[in-house]
Amino acid sequence: MSARVLRRPLLVRTREELERELESLRGDGERRALVPTMGSLHPGHLSLMDRARELADVLVASVFVNPLQFGPGEDLERYPRELDRDFRLAGERGVDLLFAPDVEVMYPDGHPRVRMDPGPLGDRLCGRFRPGHFQGVLSVVVKLFGMIRPDVAVFGRKDFQQAVLIRRAVLDLELGVEIEVAPLVREPDGLAMSSRNRYLTDEGRRQAVGLYRGLAAARDAYRDGDVSGSVLVERVRAVASEHSGLQLQYVQVVDPVTLEARNEAGSDSVLAAAGFVDDVRLIDNLVLGAGEDDPRCALLE
Ligand code: PAJ
Repeated sequence: MSARVLRRPLLVRTREELERELESLRGDGERRALVPTMGSLHPGHLSLMDRARELADVLVASVFVNPLQFGPGEDLERYPRELDRDFRLAGERGVDLLFAPDVEVMYPDGHPRVRMDPGPLGDRLCGRFRPGHFQGVLSVVVKLFGMIRPDVAVFGRKDFQQAVLIRRAVLDLELGVEIEVAPLVREPDGLAMSSRNRYLTDEGRRQAVGLYRGLAAARDAYRDGDVSGSVLVERVRAVASEHSGLQLQYVQVVDPVTLEARNEAGSDSVLAAAGFVDDVRLIDNLVLGAGEDDPRCALLE
């Protein structure tokens, strides 16, 4: 145990190193957790590591900006990369092994020919506007599961549709990994933390909070008795429109399992939205019948 503490975390960049270090960390009956990320770590990511530490003995995190999940014209090139800082933060959070492969290590033969089909869930919400995105996400997540073979993997509620799809993939394909979904971590004013927030100008940052304010206003309306999906969506739009720099892409009240739109909201319905401030894409979501600290905010089914 003490050897692990002294060496923590280990940075591994290749498959061979990964295989070797996983082997040397594997104790009898020890549980292994995985927290996949694209790096540029912020408190949202770190909260997943804290949760994973509670759930397992060996904690592996990955940092990989996955080209498969970026569409043409998206921000693959400018996506922030700061491995030294990520390494330090991961170490402070008790990560044992930080796997940070280059694209050539992950995809040695170029992009994989066989990919994961997200099915109809992948066409809803963000999937309608980002064709191929969830195929790319699921393909890399399943590949990481294969390489790291975790007992449990922790994902954030911030990417609600992603978490639903990963849960579904594990169920439908019997992948044998427990999926834990951790609460959404926000800035003090409510903006959902995201690696992309750093692209925002000061003015953009002020506008960006409109997305959360809109969702929160609709949740208040729901609590006051408004259950019509379209009324709640209009409430979000009205509040968001007070933030002139914010362009909404979609707002929907959906079922938390099927992601289908709901005309009548229930307490487990999820209000999800995406928008742009300048060129920065923002997403957010709330469970209508739950407070931010309510465990239902982290439970998808
Ligand atoms: P990334 O955006 O780096 O996020 C990694 C994990 O951190 C995801 O599970 C995401 O939901 C979670 N996360 C991000 N911001 C959060 C916040 N404010 N509160 C709580 N959790 C938050 O999501 C991805 O990377 C990729 O798609 C990945 C799963 C790594 C596959 O490439």
